[in-house]
Amino acid sequence: MSKPYIHGHHSSVLRSHTWRTVENSCAHLLPYLTSPSLNILDVGCGPGTITVDLASRIPQGSILAIDPSAEVIEKARKHAQEKNVSNVRFEVGDIFDWKALDGVEEATFDIVHAHQVLQHLQDSLSALQVMKRLTKPGGIVAVRDVDYSACTWYPEIEGMREWLDLYIRVAQGLKGDPNIGKKLHAVAIQAGFERSEIETSVGTWTFSTPEERAFWCGLWADRTVQSSFKSNAIESGHATEADLQRIVETWRDLEGREDGWFTVMNGQIICHVKS
Ligand SMILES: C[S@@+](CC[C@H](N)C(=O)[O-])C[C@H]1O[C@@H](n2cnc3c(N)ncnc32)[C@H](O)[C@@H]1O
Repeated sequence: MSKPYIHGHHSSVLRSHTWRTVENSCAHLLPYLTSPSLNILDVGCGPGTITVDLASRIPQGSILAIDPSAEVIEKARKHAQEKNVSNVRFEVGDIFDWKALDGVEEATFDIVHAHQVLQHLQDSLSALQVMKRLTKPGGIVAVRDVDYSACTWYPEIEGMREWLDLYIRVAQGLKGDPNIGKKLHAVAIQAGFERSEIETSVGTWTFSTPEERAFWCGLWADRTVQSSFKSNAIESGHATEADLQRIVETWRDLEGREDGWFTVMNGQIICHVKS
């Protein structure tokens, strides 16, 4: 079983995840939604807003979505019901324990998708190898992850570097890779894809208007002290309560700057499985 997810699933974290749609988080997948009857696996689906959006785009197809958190899977099921989307099945599950999943065998899916998941895994290579195995010949593996080291902001507020440095140290301490966005293609090569079978691209999220800054800076301020990130940072010895409080104030400062700007760089790969 994998390690608990760095942020946990506090409402300050889910505020970010439930904002996600296919358009704003996996537009790189749109050219591959070529048939209404695709069979998709969504790995680490979280509260499932991307999953349900994907399902509504393949009305004759089906999606299996897995996440180790029973709490978040319950939320995802509720979301699908509210949206009246029935061609999706949410199950508690771990990609490393895929043999325990009902209906999952090698070469089962047209698309195996993971959004913002590999960065959190202790063994992203094995996960990608499993994802490749579960994909049908001719299908694709699609992955998108942030590269924290490539996040950028304006103005250069004192404290933002402290936040980034702390986040990277805590994530690495949990054996994740917060800078994996730029290396996804390299992991895919190690997983057995040829370079010519891998398409790479970048997708960004930018938060600049007052509403966007309130959303992004506000959720980072809150998750710094309300989510599991707080205990992970303190118990690992990387930060004190006072350090975290300073970081909250830094995010509030950026939120209040009329000229504030924050951009997240996400690496994206589409890997083609040989026919
Ligand atoms: C950042 S969230 C992304 C959620 C969703 N894909 C999205 O973008 O909104 C990462 C998710 O990966 C899940 N996760 C962590 N380890 C996993 C594993 N071994 N197998 C499957 N999912 C895992 C976590 O529980 C968490 O919900």
